[in-house]
Amino acid sequence: MAKSTLSFVCQNCGAAYNRWQGKCESCGEWNTLAEEDTSGSVPVSIRSKRKGRTFALESLAGKSPDAPRLSSGMTELDRVTGGGFVRGSVLLVGGDPGIGKSTLLTQATSLLARAGHRVVYISGEEAVAQVRLRAERLGLSDAPVQLAAETSVEDIVSTLSEGAVPRLIVIDSIQTMWTDTVESAPGTVTQVRASAQALIRFAKKTGAAIILVGHVTKDGQIAGPRVVEHMVDAVMSFEGEGSQQFRILRAVKNRFGPTDEIGVFEMTGLGLREVSNPSELFLSERDLGTPGTAVFAGIEGTRPVLVELQALVAPTSLGTPRRAVVGWDPSRLSMVLAVLEAHCGVKLSGHDVYLNVAGGLRINEPAADLAAAAALVSSLVNAQLPTDAVYFGEISLSGVVRPVAQTPARLKEAAKLGFQRAVLPESARGDAGGDAGLSLNAVNSLTTLVAEIAARGSRRGESGAPAEKMPHRQDSAVERVRWR
Ligand code: TYD
Ligand code: MG
Repeated sequence: MAKSTLSFVCQNCGAAYNRWQGKCESCGEWNTLAEEDTSGSVPVSIRSKRKGRTFALESLAGKSPDAPRLSSGMTELDRVTGGGFVRGSVLLVGGDPGIGKSTLLTQATSLLARAGHRVVYISGEEAVAQVRLRAERLGLSDAPVQLAAETSVEDIVSTLSEGAVPRLIVIDSIQTMWTDTVESAPGTVTQVRASAQALIRFAKKTGAAIILVGHVTKDGQIAGPRVVEHMVDAVMSFEGEGSQQFRILRAVKNRFGPTDEIGVFEMTGLGLREVSNPSELFLSERDLGTPGTAVFAGIEGTRPVLVELQALVAPTSLGTPRRAVVGWDPSRLSMVLAVLEAHCGVKLSGHDVYLNVAGGLRINEPAADLAAAAALVSSLVNAQLPTDAVYFGEISLSGVVRPVAQTPARLKEAAKLGFQRAVLPESARGDAGGDAGLSLNAVNSLTTLVAEIAARGSRRGESGAPAEKMPHRQDSAVERVRWR
């Protein structure tokens, strides 16, 4: 006989314990354990003691009869999925509530349905009337999407097994689904896992592509079913600052495509608009003429993206100065600050440091080091950087500016947007190509750049006009920089 299978399952990470405890040792969350009956988590068909059947083994070189990918008709979405939805694949789309997941998927399904594909949208959260209302607002009411408000996985699977196999099925959201095979309440880890398993099995069996919508917890994880992330073929996260209209779709995991591409959208009164040139969008509200801002020429996937980094360096009133960063890696900021202190004589231990990537973009590239350092020093010495310059380059712990990939693409994008100069690693000058049309300022070490910016600050002071605005507090830092 099977052992008793009542266990306490962490609703955050899915770890199971024999007895209740306050803290989950696996993920460190408090009060997340709930009693669940996990006996049925293996479907009855798998638990039965049937004899194994034999199956044919195939070769890697075989051809599938149909086009393996289904293009959504939205370029930005296709860019992130790697060229369209793959047959029989399951994709998890996560994001904060209200970020626009349902809007994005309503738009994508409508386009596919208009192109003549069988597309099904199952809403477990909203009534059919609410989904219709959204479609009406988006001007998509005429699209022949098949719609239902259902939450039982068994009912969904039997309904969808009839008729032609749908090309795409959207399940909005996986946390509202439940299956008879397990006894826990909907939304618990066991239920979510079992429901996802049943849907994944359906996708693999029929070749339909399935998109699961997943909620995100406050710390950015897809709630509860972190376990689902391992089961699906691709995980996308839909991000954005609540107050901004930009939305970024990012692949976190993708078995059939790249994971570094982003899709950029703008939330408008008429739904999501694709943004094919994100640089223009991110630079559209530049604060020209303010010290502490530098334009970074970055690469997201295969596409160059120009974005403004904003820094504020101010004297601290706290024992431990504050370091706050939005849109960039905090440990990368600490490293740049440490290099500035150790090699360039810039003392920041008495200053609070804030760094922000404008427009709600999140940068992962080390190439942003140079732009961040430029913005920080510019704010510290209160000297504005040239508004027609872009910056890129990785900074090593020894203060050397190291080359980064795709220099020509970065320069080309900068030239396209009207920039005149680029500050880049010395060793990248060779790859720059002669045709970019930018004047190149190649820097070998961070000290050179810091000295140049500090010189701008002091020239500004000598020329008279803004001298009284230059706070005296910064003089010591400027002096130190100038005399190194
Ligand atoms: P929704 O897609 O329901 O978010 P999610 O499914 O991720 O929870 O989007 C809701 C938000 O989008 C809501 O705050 C209103 C806004 N919105 C628009 O600004 N314009 C629109 O055309 C639509 C449909 C929604
Ligand atoms: Mg929704």
